[in-house]
Amino acid sequence: MIIVLDGPAGSGKSSTAKAIADKLHLQYLDSGALYRAITYQYIKAGESSSLFDNLDKMNLTFNYDAGNFRVFIDDEECTAAIRSKQVSGSVSKVAANPLVRKYVNRLMKNYASSFASIADGRDLGSAVFPDAAVKFYLQASAEVRAERRTSEMHQMGQEVSYDEVLQNIMERDRIDSSREHDPLRKAEDAIVVQTDQMTFEEQVALCIQHILSKTSHTT
Ligand code: CDP
Repeated sequence: MIIVLDGPAGSGKSSTAKAIADKLHLQYLDSGALYRAITYQYIKAGESSSLFDNLDKMNLTFNYDAGNFRVFIDDEECTAAIRSKQVSGSVSKVAANPLVRKYVNRLMKNYASSFASIADGRDLGSAVFPDAAVKFYLQASAEVRAERRTSEMHQMGQEVSYDEVLQNIMERDRIDSSREHDPLRKAEDAIVVQTDQMTFEEQVALCIQHILSKTSHTT
């Protein structure tokens, strides 16, 4: 069984998905982290696009452990490094590449075929898992999303201003929504959750209520 949450940057998808995973004993799959890991490697390789032709040689692995989605390239853990400003600045460009999308989609489908999972991303309900058991689309204004993301980054010890974050979020929204391959899009049958006025606990509870009513899953 797969449940998906899509939405724009900073809409609260990952924290909501993790809370649901822990409550319902599901695996959590962070598709954005996989795009970020490839971007991290691309920057490290001097931004050479030959990386995209050789993705099968890249040993990208991941696991979900105690609320932490951990990502490794070969034996190097890059979980923290993929959240840097440099990676955030380039990830949407890298994620627009069809070879990159094909590679990430294959990794996710393999994983979801083995474990009951909840995954978050941009195109999961519309393109990657059209038959998902439940689909959510999380929304909030760019300003609210930038506030949330700025405070998260400050908590991680990153020096960043609200204006910088807002600009990055708006730029990623623009690229993610307008790209040719699998753009950010609400699936027709997705449940829209408008989170501006909701507390975190309220949005998690609402999603769980929908999941329990649409599946045979129990808490
Ligand atoms: O957490 P945040 O909303 O900042 O973004 P993310 O989930 O870490 O995703 C980073 C970037 O990866 C997005 O801005 C998209 O460009 C790309 N992405 C995508 O294209 N498709 C997905 N399913 C997930 C992420």
